[in-house]
Amino acid sequence: MQIAFSEFSLPESGTLIVGVLADGALTPSAQEIDGRMSGALAQAVEGSSRFTGKKNTTLTLNAPAGLVLGRVILVGLGKAGDIDKLQIQAMGGRIVSALNKLGESQAAIIIDTLDGCPVHLTDMVAECAFGAQLASYRFDKYRTKQKEEDKATLDSLTFMSPDSDAAQTAFEPRRRVSDGVYLARNLVSEPSNVKYPATIVEDIQGLTEVGVDVQVLHEERMKELGMGALLGVGQGSRRESFIAIMRWNGAPDEDTPPVAFVGKGVTFDTGGISIKPSGGMEEMKYDMAGAGAVIGLMKALAGRKARANVVGVVGLVENMPDGNAQRPGDVVTTMSGQTIEVINTDAEGRLVLSDALWYTHKTFEPQFMVDLATLTGAIIVSLGTYQAGLFSNNDELAERLAAAGKASGEEVWRLPLGSRYDKDINSEIADMKNVGKGREAGSITAAALLERFVGDTPWAHLDIAGMAWMKRGDDPTVPKGASGYGVRLLDRLVADHYES
Ligand code: BES
Ligand code: MN
Ligand code: ZN
Repeated sequence: MQIAFSEFSLPESGTLIVGVLADGALTPSAQEIDGRMSGALAQAVEGSSRFTGKKNTTLTLNAPAGLVLGRVILVGLGKAGDIDKLQIQAMGGRIVSALNKLGESQAAIIIDTLDGCPVHLTDMVAECAFGAQLASYRFDKYRTKQKEEDKATLDSLTFMSPDSDAAQTAFEPRRRVSDGVYLARNLVSEPSNVKYPATIVEDIQGLTEVGVDVQVLHEERMKELGMGALLGVGQGSRRESFIAIMRWNGAPDEDTPPVAFVGKGVTFDTGGISIKPSGGMEEMKYDMAGAGAVIGLMKALAGRKARANVVGVVGLVENMPDGNAQRPGDVVTTMSGQTIEVINTDAEGRLVLSDALWYTHKTFEPQFMVDLATLTGAIIVSLGTYQAGLFSNNDELAERLAAAGKASGEEVWRLPLGSRYDKDINSEIADMKNVGKGREAGSITAAALLERFVGDTPWAHLDIAGMAWMKRGDDPTVPKGASGYGVRLLDRLVADHYES
């Protein structure tokens, strides 16, 4: 879909979308169109018992008399004083879905300056376009027989506003963020016969085009570094394991210590010898969504030339049962020197992250580390699919993440850590074990293990198991399937606090 920006001019075909405020008050452009329609638009609003201009409501007028274009859609904005950015983003997303349902191919949206609206006009336009772009994502590459009526029809969407150059400029960084979200969604959507650690490494190498430095650790190097936990997870797979390191140096002062993002990249999680039940196991192709988010985030930050030094580290492995796979009861030695008894080979994400986090902490001494991982089914029991779990050893970082969540719409909810949970992972024969006390506090004991591998670095862990894949498809900016969760959240975190 093509997104364009222009000044106001009445289109001669396609669909025109205009806003209506609470209590049916027409926006300035709606008034102008109403004039050309001899008042038919105001009459339609008055005549509808349901459409009052409340937000998230629409009224469609087909073949409007007095205009040559095909259709006018009135969109409710609610009260001007209550308009916020996320509402406008969602509106952009809903408009795209509605137009595709109608089979429309071209449309224009008029966005007016509104008295009392707290969002600046250019931001309104840019946010609306951002929402539209996020909503128009599709992953259709494996469909060879799609029915006409299932195909997306919308191929051009024009945003008309008084200063279209300013709108275009404001949209540019958001477009870069949506490029990152698209990349994350594409990586997560791929099936695991097509994507595996080596192919993700190739995809990451593609980021050099936007100025990201890429470094790859092969198994041999990871052995030298002593990464026994990560390597243990991958040892049952025919596919080689990797750590990939991405660096974006955008800070004006090159000596600014970096901020770091670390992702769980299990390209398929069978559970290993502690094998998962077959029902639903196909979902475990998205067990690399943490890595996908980190890769998408690096693309977004580099794409919009964020003025920050950023490191992205992803641990890429496949967790398979095999004659060479690790066994329950095995003890592995991590790069940190600490040992872990592997009680359950299906609790593999924390093993991968233990080495990835320690490596990041030691190598980069970052200002903070945030890891993202589809770590536990238990977090879905706790929080469902509306918010990710947040764990942190640092209140300031946790608060900044919570605020970035509210601002971006990718929300997080903090859960506790503490010495009593930490004790639950003590092992009889090693420094720790990779599971806690049965089903009790499963997400917290997983986080407690990670905390043992961050040293004194401010750190936060996002358990995104419930957020990586949307079965619902009712979020206007997140189509069904891979969500790309985390890219918008962490882009916001960097933009709000770590750019100079
Ligand atoms: N990748 C899974 C967690 C998961 C579950 C992600 C559902 C997305 C949806 C993780 O590796 C896992 O298997 N966790 C186990 C841990 C248990 C063995 C302690 C779990 O949650 O059951
Ligand atoms: Mn698992
Ligand atoms: Zn897993």
